[in-house]
Amino acid sequence: MANIKIPKGWEIPENQVTPESVYINRRKFIKELGIVGAGALSLFGSSACAQDSKVAKQLKPYQTQPLDAKKNEEFTVTRKQTDEIVAATYNNFYEFTSSKSTVWRRVEKFKTRPWEIEISGLVEKPMTLDVDDLIKQMPLEERIYRFRCVETWAMVVPWIGFPMKALLEKVQPKSDAKYVRMTTFMDPDVAPHQNNFRLPWPYVEGLTLAEAMNDLTLLVVGIYGHILPPQHGAPIRLIVPWKYGFKSIKSIVSIELTDKKPRTFWNIILPREYGFEANVNPNVPHPRWSQATEWMIGSRERHPTLIYNGYGDAVAHLY
Ligand code: MTE
Repeated sequence: MANIKIPKGWEIPENQVTPESVYINRRKFIKELGIVGAGALSLFGSSACAQDSKVAKQLKPYQTQPLDAKKNEEFTVTRKQTDEIVAATYNNFYEFTSSKSTVWRRVEKFKTRPWEIEISGLVEKPMTLDVDDLIKQMPLEERIYRFRCVETWAMVVPWIGFPMKALLEKVQPKSDAKYVRMTTFMDPDVAPHQNNFRLPWPYVEGLTLAEAMNDLTLLVVGIYGHILPPQHGAPIRLIVPWKYGFKSIKSIVSIELTDKKPRTFWNIILPREYGFEANVNPNVPHPRWSQATEWMIGSRERHPTLIYNGYGDAVAHLY
């Protein structure tokens, strides 16, 4: 145990605490969840190899369900890809816990199939689809994207999905539709943190219709060549790589087109800290920490943050 060298990136200085821990007294919150031991154990107590083999075992059933998706060469990055095990053991999924290193264990009872997704609101053709039927109908592709969390950690991940635009074209937005409002599942029996009535569950996120129609905006159903494991927001989630990670809502059950700006989860909790737009910007510090640099999870690498997370060519015209 003493030989385990904790990579610098895994140290969590006070300026990188999770947003929620400032909303609620941190110690009380941790006590409520009973996570102090578990979080500490996986970071400092147990052997990294033992954890890696447990995670590898957990990922197996997903890895044996590959997705047939052609790599889109337009979307690759020069930075090294994050290891699958690193990405699968450092997650934000507040429905289950606020301890990133234990999400993968806490999602074990989360059943992500069968799963329906409803597309409604200001559309000509509202529909409810089984996620696997939807996957069969959509043009799947693999894209390697940079991903940047508002807490300053970053990763490079091969997602598999389809442009949200393809789904929106299918349901045909009406001319007065201006925003897309997305909602995560609600099931406190499975996701215990949803019992915390002080938080505005279910998790909701939103985009303008123009952002949702942008070519970069992906609805993601796979990662590292296979279907999504639960900790990454199975069976279907959003990825908007030019925005801070909290916009990339997981485990979506509903997509509604509306003419009103949606009220979103973190924006309701801390409006001064988590704006609706949430575009990655090194020049606008978070009220409690700088956004000038980012660190790659699972490594000691630190890089300057790029405006729009490096995707300005594709999205700067929207603002
Ligand atoms: N979606 C839901 N439903 N619940 C969450 O807690 N966390 C967000 C986002 N989507 C979150 C969510 C945040 S803060 C981040 S950084 C990313 O998911 C993390 O995605 P990952 O765990 O796949 O890396």
